[in-house]
Amino acid sequence: MLYSEKVMEHFAAPHNVGEIENADGIGEVGNEKCGDIMKMYLKINAGIIEDVKFKTFGCGAAIATSSIATEMIKGKSIEEALKLSNKAVVESLEGLPPAKIHCSVLAEQAVKTAIADYYRRQGVDPVPIVGVIQDHCDGQCTIDN
Ligand code: FES
Repeated sequence: MLYSEKVMEHFAAPHNVGEIENADGIGEVGNEKCGDIMKMYLKINAGIIEDVKFKTFGCGAAIATSSIATEMIKGKSIEEALKLSNKAVVESLEGLPPAKIHCSVLAEQAVKTAIADYYRRQGVDPVPIVGVIQDHCDGQCTIDN
């Protein structure tokens, strides 16, 4: 089987799908190779991610990675959410086929981009906190579609 049960679960019934009205931070990222787009909405209160929702126009793995990423950061502090790596996302999904690793990169980027947007709205430069959001995946990502 190409996909783990966990991936199939999150693909079939993704968690936290939708939008948040009056979100405190919104991050939209896309992969230009496959054309998939992921949009993440955050509700942040006193440094805690109280709510998170996403909309993904993309492949099944992108939907599963967004779903599990929202689960992993909900209720966490911004600092913890910033530590979410695509590797952690893949591990929680019990693996992804190599050609689908880049989908998990999109999830990490969407979270970071939404947090950067949150800081920008507060008038804070996000770069020293969030860093420069990379649009590639350090060579561990195989994009073949
Ligand atoms: Fe593009 Fe998965 S995010 S193929």
